[in-house]
Amino acid sequence: MDNAKIEQIINKHQGQANALIQVLLEIQSQNHWLPKEVIDQVSEKLDVPLSQVMQIATFYKTFSLIPKARNQVHVCTGSSCHVRGSTGILDKVQDLVGIRPGETDSEARFSLETINCLGCCNLGPEIVVNGKHHANMTPDRVEEVLKDYE
Ligand code: FES
Repeated sequence: MDNAKIEQIINKHQGQANALIQVLLEIQSQNHWLPKEVIDQVSEKLDVPLSQVMQIATFYKTFSLIPKARNQVHVCTGSSCHVRGSTGILDKVQDLVGIRPGETDSEARFSLETINCLGCCNLGPEIVVNGKHHANMTPDRVEEVLKDYE
């Protein structure tokens, strides 16, 4: 993400300390993570103490302080999805993208995380890619789903 885009997001809300979460969400959404220099910039421009920005950025799981890929894959491993076969889904995702939960591949195509429950257990097992839910997953369907994400 170039600096101009970051400036644009911050400038939209400049001087509005209560816009902190919104600004971080927009940057996270476009850049996929929050670099240190961006955190500093947000703190300065919104006139919010750095410690407060860091508190928000580290509290919410939505935000990442380490580089993330273009595509975020979340595999639900909650108890209901587990009973319905999420272990096989996670294994298949790991085999296909070559990374484990918490990792990003070398081409920054995929980052992989597990999640405890997505709140729609009757549709499990579920994976979510870039916020899009894929219900009733089977290991055989994983490749078909992931191939659409470059
Ligand atoms: S356990 Fe997976 S959606 Fe609830």
